[in-house]
Amino acid sequence: MANVSAVRRSKPRSEPIGTGLDPEACARTATALQSILGATYRLLVKTQIHHWNVVGPLFHPIHVTTEAHYENLFAAVDTLAERIRALGHPTEPPVIGTEKPKVAEMSAADLLADLVADHEALCREMREAAATAEEAGDIVTNDMLVERLTFHEKAVWMLRAMLAN
Ligand SMILES: [Fe+2]
Repeated sequence: MANVSAVRRSKPRSEPIGTGLDPEACARTATALQSILGATYRLLVKTQIHHWNVVGPLFHPIHVTTEAHYENLFAAVDTLAERIRALGHPTEPPVIGTEKPKVAEMSAADLLADLVADHEALCREMREAAATAEEAGDIVTNDMLVERLTFHEKAVWMLRAMLAN
């Protein structure tokens, strides 16, 4: 058994896992999930910023809907990051805040459209990653992404319904 000082020096690293998944497929899926994690974090931050800044007659429904969405996204980043670890890879720090929404110039319709675009982009990225994971026999990642897609597709519907005139 490793001694205590060796255990204290342990660092997260990529290592093959013996669960029947191909190590190269695990690495590819971990990279895809890392990208999805970053996009989910950016959407979480943006959703909360729009939750704070929305004004006008749609204030209340948008304020309430965005709160439900950022709570879901906050739980999702943990799920995504822990799946990367379970695939045998470290979770890298996600890149957040490279593109700032111009909140002072945004109407309620603008911020709804901004959120719809990000949810739709995430759906496209997740759909591809889910298919790749399934092809590799990684049904757990596929199942997780199907659940995430269910949330994002419903969010697209709700946000688009608020935008409709
Ligand atoms: Fe709030």
